[in-house]
Amino acid sequence: MKSKVFTKLLGLFVLLLAFNTVVMEIVFSRMVRTTAGDMLHLLARQALWSGLIALAVALPLAAWAARAISSRLDRVVAFARRIAEGDLSARLTPVGQDEISKMEAALNLTAERLGQSFAEIESRRQELAAMLDSMQEAVVAITPEGNVRWSNAVMQRIAGTQIRPGRPLVLSLRDPELLACIRAALDLREVRFGRASTLSPGRIFEINAAPLPSGGALAVLHDVTRIETAEKSRRDFIANVSHELRTPLTSIQGYVETLFEDPHPNPETTREFLGVILKNATRMNRLTEDLLALAGVESPDYKLILQPARASALVADAIESLGGLVVDSGVELESSGAPDAPVLADPDAMNQVFGNLIENALKYGKSGKRIRIGARQIDAEVEFTVQDFGPGIASEHLSRIFERFYRVDKARSRESGGTGLGLAIVKHIVLTHGGRVWAESELGSGASFHFTLPLAP
Ligand SMILES: Nc1ncnc2c1ncn2[C@@H]1O[C@H](COP(=O)(O)OP(=O)(O)OP(=O)(O)O)[C@@H](O)[C@H]1O
Ligand SMILES: [Mg+2]
Repeated sequence: MKSKVFTKLLGLFVLLLAFNTVVMEIVFSRMVRTTAGDMLHLLARQALWSGLIALAVALPLAAWAARAISSRLDRVVAFARRIAEGDLSARLTPVGQDEISKMEAALNLTAERLGQSFAEIESRRQELAAMLDSMQEAVVAITPEGNVRWSNAVMQRIAGTQIRPGRPLVLSLRDPELLACIRAALDLREVRFGRASTLSPGRIFEINAAPLPSGGALAVLHDVTRIETAEKSRRDFIANVSHELRTPLTSIQGYVETLFEDPHPNPETTREFLGVILKNATRMNRLTEDLLALAGVESPDYKLILQPARASALVADAIESLGGLVVDSGVELESSGAPDAPVLADPDAMNQVFGNLIENALKYGKSGKRIRIGARQIDAEVEFTVQDFGPGIASEHLSRIFERFYRVDKARSRESGGTGLGLAIVKHIVLTHGGRVWAESELGSGASFHFTLPLAP
C-alpha cells in the first residue's frame, strides 16, 4: 500500500522536475531577448528557485520513504525474534512485489519448513520415547557430568521418585555394580557388563552400560530374576533327585556287597538283607514313578480330557477306589456329603489328586483314625476337602508343602517312603483345571487339604 503511495509521490517529483524544465525553457526564451548581464542574473535566480522547490519536495519524500522501509525492517526483526524464541507459527505479510516483500515471502517459507522439520523431529522423539517405554528393559541415559538425562517407564518403576532428569545418578540408583559399570562407560568410554542385585528387593538385573557418541552413557537393565529362579530350581531339582536316588542306591549296594562277600551266608540274614534291598528298590521305583508323573503334568503337552462330572460322583469314585486301602489300615473313611453340581474335570487326573491326598492323610494322619472326604458349592466353583485328624502341620510349613521335594520331617517322610512330590503333582493338576489348592491345619488337630474346580457351564 505504502509502496504505491511512494510510487505516486515519485511521479509527482518527476512532474515538478518537468515543471522546472519548462520554467528554464521560458527563461531561456526570455534570455534571447535580454542583455547578457540581465540574462545571467535571471538565470541564477531561476536556478536557485527551482532547486529550492525540488529540495522542498524531495526531502520529506525521502524521509517518508526511509521511515516506511525501516518500519518494514522492524517487522522482519520482530519476526526473527519470535522464531528465535521458538514461535514457529510467526508469519510476515508481504505487500507488493518489491525486494523486501520477496525477502518476507522467503522468510515465511523458511519458518514453515522449520516448523515442519520440528514437528517431524518431535513426532520421532515421541515415537522413540513410546518405544523405550514399552520395552521390558529398564533404560537410563546419563550426562557426561554423571546426572540423569532421561529414563524410561520401567526404570522409573524400579527407582521410583528417586530418578529425575538432572539429579546425580549416585542419588538415584544406589546399586554399587550398576554405578561402577556406568562410571567405566563414562570415564573409560568402554562397554561394561554386570549384574545388579540390590536395585529392587528379590530382583536380579543384567547390566549393559555403553558410552554415548555425544558424551555421557546409556545403561540398559534386563530383568533375569525369572531365568535365574528357573535355573536355580532346575539345579535344586537335579540335586534333590540325585540325593533321593543315592540314599537307597547306597543302601542296596552295601547289602549286596555284604551278601557277595559272605561265603557261607546265613539264610535268615540273607532274607533280612534281601528285604532291605527290596524296600529300597521299591522306594527308587516310587521315586521314578513320581518323577515321571510330575514330568507328565508339567509338560507343555499335558492335556486334560475335561468333561462335566457331578461333584458327588467324583467323591464317590475316590471313596470306592481308595476306600479299601484306608479300611485295611484300620482307619475310618467317611464322607461329609457333596453336591450334585457338575464340575469340569478329567476323571483320571482327579483320581491322582484324591489318591495323593488320601495317601498322605493315611501316611501322616493315621493316628487320628478318621479321614473325611467331602465337597461343597461356593458360587461358581465346588470346593473339595480331604481331612484327617492326625498331628497336623505347623503353620510355617503350610505354604511350602506344595513345593517339589519339600517335606516337613524329612527323616519320617523318607521312612514312610515319601519323596515330597505328591503335593506338587496335586497342585499342578488342580491349577491346570483352573482351580486353587491350599492346606489348613492346627497342630494336634489334623490337617485338611482343599481344592476347587470350576462349575461346568
Ligand atoms: N495330611 C498330612 N498331615 C501331616 N503332614 C502332611 C500331610 N500331608 C502332607 N504332609 C507333609 O507334607 C509333605 C509333602 O507331602 P507330599 O505328598 O508332597 O510328599 P510325600 O508324601 O513326602 O511324598 P510322596 O507323596 O511323593 O510320596 C510330607 O512330607 C509331609 O511332611
Ligand atoms: Mg504324599
